[in-house]
Amino acid sequence: MGNRQFPSVFLVLVTILLSIHYSEELQSSHTQTLLRIQQLLNFPASLSKWNNDTDFCNTDSNASLSVVCYEDTITQLHIIGDRRDSPLSRNFSIDSFVTTLVRLPSLKVLTLVSLGIWGPLPGKIARLSSLEIVNMSSNFLYGSLPQELSSLSNLQTLIFDNNMLADRLPEWIDSLPALTVLSLKSNLFNGSLPNSLGSLDNLRILSLSHNHFIGLVPDLSRLTNLQVLELDDNAFGPQFPQLGNKLVTLVLRNNRFRSGIPAELSSYYQLKQLDISSNAFVGPFQPGLLSLPSIDYLNISGNKLTGLLFENLSCNSELDVVDLSSNLLTGSLPRCLVSNSSDRTVLYARNCLDTANQNQQPQPFCHTEALAVGILPERKKHKQVSKVVLSLGIVGGTLGGVALVLLIFFIVRRGNARSKMKNPPTRLISENAASAYTSKLLSDARYISQTKKLGAAGLPTYRSFSLEEIEAATNYFDTASLMGEDSYGKMYRGQLKNGSHVAIRCVEMKKRYSTQNFVHHIELISKLRHRHLVSALGHCFECSLDDSSVSKVYLVFEDVPNGTLRSWISDENAKRSLSWTQRIGAAIGVAKGIQFLHTGIVPGVYANDLKIEDVLLDQNLVAKISSYDLPLLSNMGKVRHGNSSSGFKNSSNNKGVKHVDKSDIYDFGVILLELILARKIKTSTDADAFKDLLQASLGADEEGRRSVADPSIRKACLDQSLKTMMEICMRCLVKEPADRPSIEDVLWNLQFASQVQDAWRGDSQSSEGSPGSESRGLPFH
Ligand SMILES: *[C@@H]1O[C@H](CO)[C@@H](O)[C@H](O)[C@H]1NC(C)=O
Ligand SMILES: *[C@@H]1O[C@H](CO)[C@@H](O)[C@H](O)[C@H]1NC(C)=O
Ligand SMILES: *[C@@H]1O[C@H](CO)[C@@H](O)[C@H](O)[C@H]1NC(C)=O
Ligand SMILES: *[C@@H]1O[C@H](CO)[C@@H](O)[C@H](O)[C@H]1NC(C)=O
Ligand SMILES: *[C@@H]1O[C@H](CO)[C@@H](O)[C@H](O)[C@H]1NC(C)=O
Ligand SMILES: *[C@@H]1O[C@H](CO)[C@@H](O)[C@H](O)[C@H]1NC(C)=O
Ligand SMILES: *[C@@H]1O[C@H](CO)[C@@H](O)[C@H](O)[C@H]1NC(C)=O
Ligand SMILES: *[C@@H]1O[C@H](CO)[C@@H](O)[C@H](O)[C@H]1NC(C)=O
Repeated sequence: MGNRQFPSVFLVLVTILLSIHYSEELQSSHTQTLLRIQQLLNFPASLSKWNNDTDFCNTDSNASLSVVCYEDTITQLHIIGDRRDSPLSRNFSIDSFVTTLVRLPSLKVLTLVSLGIWGPLPGKIARLSSLEIVNMSSNFLYGSLPQELSSLSNLQTLIFDNNMLADRLPEWIDSLPALTVLSLKSNLFNGSLPNSLGSLDNLRILSLSHNHFIGLVPDLSRLTNLQVLELDDNAFGPQFPQLGNKLVTLVLRNNRFRSGIPAELSSYYQLKQLDISSNAFVGPFQPGLLSLPSIDYLNISGNKLTGLLFENLSCNSELDVVDLSSNLLTGSLPRCLVSNSSDRTVLYARNCLDTANQNQQPQPFCHTEALAVGILPERKKHKQVSKVVLSLGIVGGTLGGVALVLLIFFIVRRGNARSKMKNPPTRLISENAASAYTSKLLSDARYISQTKKLGAAGLPTYRSFSLEEIEAATNYFDTASLMGEDSYGKMYRGQLKNGSHVAIRCVEMKKRYSTQNFVHHIELISKLRHRHLVSALGHCFECSLDDSSVSKVYLVFEDVPNGTLRSWISDENAKRSLSWTQRIGAAIGVAKGIQFLHTGIVPGVYANDLKIEDVLLDQNLVAKISSYDLPLLSNMGKVRHGNSSSGFKNSSNNKGVKHVDKSDIYDFGVILLELILARKIKTSTDADAFKDLLQASLGADEEGRRSVADPSIRKACLDQSLKTMMEICMRCLVKEPADRPSIEDVLWNLQFASQVQDAWRGDSQSSEGSPGSESRGLPFH
């Protein structure tokens, strides 16, 4: 298919923190509800500007307040108060508060932090059945989690940090299958964890720090997406938990663990932070932990770990903090830890190391202690051990066996690593994309999933691909699969095992980043899925073996087989041509794609530099934008949101970029112009000239208008329809951005043009299957 094209231009994601503008008015009942909320919360400072004249959907947001609307309902409400330490007065009723809140039934994202809300959480909060993200940290909620929460099947994030919630973590927690983040830090939960926790497949973050949990941690090894597990300050133990190997952060500090450390831990390649301090772990310390490719924080202090350290051990260069203190380690401090640089903290006091520094114990102390812990908990009494076995610094007996297993493990691992070196030096860190989500990210729950509402119809779920799959799909990057190349890298056409065709963009990294640096970008890409966008199906990281940094990223896109919109309109030898109805349908599709980019995700994606050749048509002639800004490509590693960690726009930024959404409107106008005139528009001079032509014909009579339109549609289009399209086109092309219409306004007009055209043709069936057929009914009054 020669016409298949993939966009040659992918641009930097311009993330401008601008408020989202809607032409709609908020329903007045919502206004009343918000004012009532303000009153019930006793007029917190962050709501001081709210009054009955406030246009809630269009007011400035800041870190402590933001309201986001979609159409005429509120989908996000973020209020952050300053009552961390003082509950609201006695006349506050959480029941009335929640009764009021549930009058905002479209809420998807709800943040109510530090507002002094007190009382047992009423089950009726579950009437907000669209809830996806809830953060009610730092209030005074008590009692247990109400069972009604289990009906919130869309719930992805549940955060109740710093409250006084108590009782056990309920068994029904697994009825929240979409749950990705569960954070209940600093509450009064008790008892042991339910086994059902182990079946929350999507869980990425589980934070249960600082509660009164006890006992064994349930088997979490099936949670392949789990990246952050924080269990510190509880009474978990005695066995080391069973975990998946994708962990990035593992915090077991200050619990009652008394087992050995499983050998697999040394193969957790993504592990950045490991804190197992203040427990009673026994057995050998694994020096391999020091050289894990991602590790930067390692704290094993306050345990009874044994082992002989060597000067020549290697460490990961990123290692910032190593705390080995208060264990039973012998031998010499590894040279790689001794450094003059003050930006690395290395603590190793109260061991038996062969150094004069940091208060070491005499050797025999460690040996005796090691023997003691070796015998006490796990040993069978009948096996008496003499002290002779201790020469290796390892306890001997059973533990010696463990050490041997470990040794074999390391040798095997080394061997594997070496044999792999002979192959191309790549290693795949297979990692679930959508799962890449860290606490940092989380703190700004930006994403509102409109995908259901706006329809990412028919796409498989976003996932990570293995390098093998990519190679198989492209026949080992065969030149026959090559579609094109630009400054970012090559683009291949491919076919997956299941038969579906895909386009694969390979982005070569010029600088070294770890997979963690991509988390944010991948997260965004995975959310940019919509019926009218050429959507990403997944990605694959190729990592270099030596430092496991990412050398290439493959982005897998759906294949859109029917050529560019231009090839159906104005290409010199275009054999095929879209009918007038199909053109309006394509325009509606593009407009909906733009609407999604602007309002379907937060912050919106603006200034996409849209061009008609970057709009592709699929087999049903559904238009899809392919050139929207992909965040990954140019600005790797930069903090894209300035100093705003909350993702809310900063109102002072607002002035200069007031009409940033309007540059896409202009570009859309140019596309419309080409759709109407079927003349190739390649420069802004072309655009200006054709705009003048259109302007002149608009003032003329019906005959005049028809005479400028594409000859192939002249006969079939109704004048009212053509005129509406011309008018909205002219308005999009106005020089002053502020005077250009909103995307909603554009959509209204396009749908009007489509409707009158259909009505005129008198057969409503005719639009079935055309690009605009899924457009909703006309907003006639
Ligand atoms: C946020 O805006 C509200 C009014 O909209 C204001 O009262 C509040 O002080 C602002 N908060 C911050 C942190 O700027
Ligand atoms: C706003 O509400 C106050 C009382 O809450 C009322 O006195 C005032 O008339 C209202 N203003 C408008 C414009 O509705
Ligand atoms: C609750 O009491 C405070 C004073 O303690 C008062 O300012 C506030 O209006 C009362 N709120 C309600 C909802 O009655
Ligand atoms: C857990 O807390 C609840 C409420 O505080 C209490 O009734 C219950 O006895 C506690 N259970 C355990 C096992 O401590
Ligand atoms: C390691 O953990 C211990 C106990 O949890 C803590 O006191 C110590 O400060 C930690 N070390 C570092 C360097 O953070
Ligand atoms: C490190 O040193 C120890 C003893 O000093 C030696 O047995 C071992 O082979 C060395 N390992 C490497 C990898 O050089
Ligand atoms: C530490 O500094 C001393 C002198 O300041 C220097 O001789 C030594 O080589 C340095 N060590 C390392 C590991 O950089
Ligand atoms: C909950 O929201 C507050 C305020 O925005 C934020 O500081 C906190 O980090 C959020 N909690 C989580 C776990 O993201």
